[in-house]
Amino acid sequence: MTNSFVFLCLLLLLLPLVAAQLRVGFYNSTCPRAELIVRKVIQERFRDNRTITAALLRMHFHDCFVRGCDASVLIDPTKTTPSEKDAVPNQTVREFHLIDKAKKKLEAACPGIVSCADIITLATRDSVALAGGPNYSVPTGRRDGLISDPNLVDVPGPTFSVSEALQSFTAVGLTLFDMVTLLGAHTVGVAHCDFFQDRLSDFEGTGKPDPTMDPALVSNLFSLCGTQSRPLKHDLTTFLDRTTPFIVDNQYYNDILSGRGIMQIDQELALDDSTASFVSGFANDALGFQLSFANALSRLALHRGVPLHLWHSMFLELDIQLLRFASSIGCLI
Ligand code: HEM
Repeated sequence: MTNSFVFLCLLLLLLPLVAAQLRVGFYNSTCPRAELIVRKVIQERFRDNRTITAALLRMHFHDCFVRGCDASVLIDPTKTTPSEKDAVPNQTVREFHLIDKAKKKLEAACPGIVSCADIITLATRDSVALAGGPNYSVPTGRRDGLISDPNLVDVPGPTFSVSEALQSFTAVGLTLFDMVTLLGAHTVGVAHCDFFQDRLSDFEGTGKPDPTMDPALVSNLFSLCGTQSRPLKHDLTTFLDRTTPFIVDNQYYNDILSGRGIMQIDQELALDDSTASFVSGFANDALGFQLSFANALSRLALHRGVPLHLWHSMFLELDIQLLRFASSIGCLI
């Protein structure tokens, strides 16, 4: 066998493995301090601003739901080419500069090695742990995407029903249980009035507030936001979890069980037959929520642009085809 033939055989046999594998400690040999560098940047920023956990969780979600976790949400628009940042749901995504800062430090330590997609994933993990949430291992080795098209941003909206929202989650290989668990991210952070104002007065043309919202909360939010036709200001926000807004805990589920969900989707989660039992389960099981949240975030972070089950079978199929081809040209006996 010539050297080039042996090389071709090796390439054919190894290619699917290389392309398919994310693994914990991917940068151990190429950039051993990578995870440490990210953690330090996040710790420093968290000391000044505890809201970064919310910002990073939302950024991670919006990144992963559009063509997989590939950092396409970070790409800046140019004068001629818009990017995901221009899409309406991304206009309130925050802290992009924090990822830029970590990337800059990583480039100084090990140029061209660590992807921004991995930085977002690691930064989210670290900020969740800092806010009292679970710590979990993050497989790394993601590559950054080059496509960032605002028209592809199709994240669910706050007035979606549970079944409409579920369609978005199943489209990326996540389950109903994953969805209920991941919405637990609304245990931190804020929502702008625009996203729930319709619930405060003339809800669905009834002339009254949303009857599923606690009346005390209605009047409090009404005095904060005004009405849709007469908003007080456009940039006002309220905490999604008004009891422990900076802590990753199961309080969100207790809130929505008592009619204190801020957005319609939050409240629906507690009321819909398909999700109500998961919600009361988490409301009564703080540790169970932490474990499931870590697991659901890990599953979200594995999303690579096609549903998880499709991704696995795609690579299985590619493996089989390459092995067949390798065998047909004599690489295998
Ligand atoms: C049906 C699914 C979801 C809908 C409809 C939804 C919708 C929204 C909306 C409209 C906001 C308010 C944004 C603003 O006013 O700036 C928000 C905030 C937030 N969302 Fe979601 N979301 C969903 C799922 C998720 C998931 C899966 C995560 C993360 C795993 C997440 C994390 C957050 C966080 C942390 C905030 C607060 C952001 C901040 O403080 O800047 N959401 N969400």
